[in-house]
Formats: sequence, structure tokens, C-alpha cells
Amino acid sequence: MSSHSTTPTASALSVYAERRARVARAIGPGGIAIVPTAPERARNRDSDFLYRHDSYFYYLTGFTEPQAWLVITGEGESTLWCNPKDLEREIWDGYRLGPDAAVSALGVQAAWPVTELDSRLPRLLENREVVHYPFATHKGLETRVDGWLSQVRARVRYGALCPSVQRDLCEVLDEMRLVKDAHELDLMRRAAQISARAHVRAMQASAAMLRAGQDLREYHLDAELLHEFRRQGSQYPAYSSIVAAGANACVLHYRADAAPVRDGELVLIDAGCELDGYASDITRTFPANGRFSGPQRALYDLVLASQEAAVAATRAGARFNDPHDATVAVLAQGLLDLGLLDRGKVGDVQDVIANRSYFPFYMHRTSHWLGMDVHDCGSYVEPAEVGQSSERRDPLSGETITNRPSRVLRPGMVLTLEPGLYVRPAPGVPEAFHHIGIRIEDDAVVTPAGCELITRDVPVKADEIEALMRDGAAIGVS
Ligand code: GLY
Ligand code: MN
Ligand code: MN
Repeated sequence: MSSHSTTPTASALSVYAERRARVARAIGPGGIAIVPTAPERARNRDSDFLYRHDSYFYYLTGFTEPQAWLVITGEGESTLWCNPKDLEREIWDGYRLGPDAAVSALGVQAAWPVTELDSRLPRLLENREVVHYPFATHKGLETRVDGWLSQVRARVRYGALCPSVQRDLCEVLDEMRLVKDAHELDLMRRAAQISARAHVRAMQASAAMLRAGQDLREYHLDAELLHEFRRQGSQYPAYSSIVAAGANACVLHYRADAAPVRDGELVLIDAGCELDGYASDITRTFPANGRFSGPQRALYDLVLASQEAAVAATRAGARFNDPHDATVAVLAQGLLDLGLLDRGKVGDVQDVIANRSYFPFYMHRTSHWLGMDVHDCGSYVEPAEVGQSSERRDPLSGETITNRPSRVLRPGMVLTLEPGLYVRPAPGVPEAFHHIGIRIEDDAVVTPAGCELITRDVPVKADEIEALMRDGAAIGVS
């Protein structure tokens, strides 16, 4: 099926070569690493899902064609298998790089047609000690590795050595991907800027369409996002966009659907584009008509204050959990102050935190890693301290929870900061707040002294959002 064929620019070739060299150093002499790209997937008869390469494979090659494999030896030799040139297929599906051009286009030492993978790979596995590949990531890969190893074993009696150890390559690659290099940060900043502009466009379209008396639906705002993503060169959204009007905002995994967007309601948009393999992830919540009501504004300002606390807690040397803990402290106090939690029933702010009484209003975490994958790889536990766990009883579920020391943040790690509040009707919850769902999400690059918010081309302060929606050009109205 048709897919784009993308290779690194000449100036980026060394970036991918250096990453492969790091893998070679990590697996060492005698090691060999096998990295397939993602399979194509049927959507319905004769029609595939839009193709998306595998992130690990792309990280090491910059190559986006399907049916490709990379092998790296511990001595630093890289071999690629890819679709062979085929005029008939290229007439239907588009340009293919082909193995001959792949050597210089990708900077690998050798390249072969993918039809020769099974015949050539066993020879490369001979006389190696350890085979590395991503475990539990590619359906059927373990079986294929088994098949190749059995071919090597058949030659053992003729003097070949068969690898005796298999290791999970994700351990190496996840740690590498967790700290973004300059090439990645440049792409992530650009993806973030495009997404920010898309949010601005959707906000302005919302106010303009309501002012014009049009029948505004969630999908109209989704269309504004997609328009901006594509016109600026993004290949596709990094995940299914959430455009949630009114009470739909309280459904955490809502999608952009057909519900009417009504004057007086809030709209929650969680959407980000993917640009050249890198995700962005932004949430803004804004009044559909451009003016917050009193209760909407009170909750909005509370979520924003909790995000500011998270931002202040994000810096090199802090722990991954610190922004979450800072967020929860602000939200807990605010829920008491606004009367969503009753002091007489839940006690003071320390009790609210200890007993997780805030949980009915804030039931998700504040952060995840962001990179090529929107929930990017990398452990949330500090590797050097994995063994230092402690146990506690969860006050809500009664379950025993194992606490492991949370990851120490380092410059170049990228995480989201995305607090929220979701108010469903319940006894004791003031009616003025019912059905309000608010989340504010920005993408933060950890720096030595703090963090860089790369998504702030879309305003976040309530006054600034109102000004933007008041003054904005009437884009999106036709
Ligand atoms: N949009 C997915 C997330 O915010 O985690
Ligand atoms: Mn997110
Ligand atoms: Mn998001």
C-alpha cells in the first residue's frame, strides 16, 4: 500500500549514524541488534490504515518505508533490508528507495532487498553471543528470531557458534530516547508551534461561528485543527484529537464528535500534531463564546495555578513525581476553598492529599514522557534505585501499592504538565460547577535550572484567551 518514503537530510545523516554507534557500543562486540519497522495494517477491504513507521526503527534510520529491517553489530556495522525497486509496484504505491540507493541515503554499510532477509540474516547471527531485539513489541518477531537461530544451530556441527543469549533491545533504546538530542528538540519545538497555532485557530473559529449564529459542532473545531496541522506540513495528528463540548469534557478519552457547541459552555481541546515523527500534546479549555462565566473562571484559575506549581517543580534534579505532587497540593486546597470538598467531611488539605479525597475530581496523573510516541518510552522509576521500594496501603482502594523512587529529571527529558478538574454531579458538589471539565496541558523540556514550555504560542491565562477570542480574525467562518 502507498506510503511516503522519507530519508534523512544530508546534514542529519550523522545524527542517525551516531545513534547507531551508541547502540553498537551498548551491545558491545559479539552482540547483534535486530530492529524491524512497523507492519502495514488493513483497515477494510483493499484499504490500509495510514502507515506509521516504528519509532525505534525511525530513531535509528530516519527511514519511513514499510517492510524494512535494520541490523547493527556490536562492531558498528549497520545492514538494512528494504523493499526492492519494482516499477509495477511503484506505479501503484509510489516511489521506493531500494537497497542500492539506501546505502548512501541512509549511511548504512550494506542494504539488501527484504525478500533476502531470511536467507542473509542467519549468516550475520553466526558466531555472535547475544541477540538483541525489542521484546513483546512486534507480533511474531520472537518466532522469526527462533527460526533464524535454528538455521544457525543447524550449522553448529560444522563449527558455527549459535548465540546463546537474547536480550531486550528496548532497555537500551528506551534510555537513549528518554533524553532528547538537539535534532529531536528542534523537531519537537516546531511540532509544538504548529499545534499551538492550531489551538488558536480553533478558539477563534469557535467565537466567530457563535457570533455569526452558526450551528457549531465539535467536528467544526476538529476541522480547524486538522487544517492548521496539514497546512504547516504535519503528516497527521499525534493521537486522536479530543474536542469535547460542555459535559463531554468530563469524559477523559472523548473524541471529536458531532455534539453541538453551545454558547455559555466550555470546550476542551486536547490535540497535537506529529511532525516528522515527533509528537506534540496540548490541551486548552476555553469558553465557546469567548467569555468565562464566574464558576468556569474560578475552576479554570485553580487548574492554571496548579499547573504553575507543576511548572515550578520541573527542573533537572527534581523527581518525575514532583510536578504531580505540586499540582495535587494546589488542587486540594482549591477544592476546599471553592466548596467542592467539605472541610467538615474531609478535613484539611493534608487530609485531602493523604486520603486522596481529590480523586473524584482529578483522577489522572499530571505528566507523561513525550517524544516520538505521545506517551513516550522511558521508565518513570530511577534505574539506580529500582530496589529501594516501599509499600503503603491505598486509602481509596485498600490495595497495597509499591512505591519506587521516581525518576530524577535530567536536561533534555520532555514531559507534559497536564492538570485538570472534572466535576460530575454528586451530593454536596455545588450545582454551579456541575459538568465542568477543565484540563490545561503544555509540553516541557527539562533544563538545568527549570523547564522550557514549548507550547506557549497558544495563550493559557483566562484573560489572554478571552482577548484572543474577542479580537481574533473571523477565520473558519464561511
Ligand atoms: N492526549 C493524550 C494525553 O494527553 O495524554
Ligand atoms: Mn498528554
Ligand atoms: Mn493531551
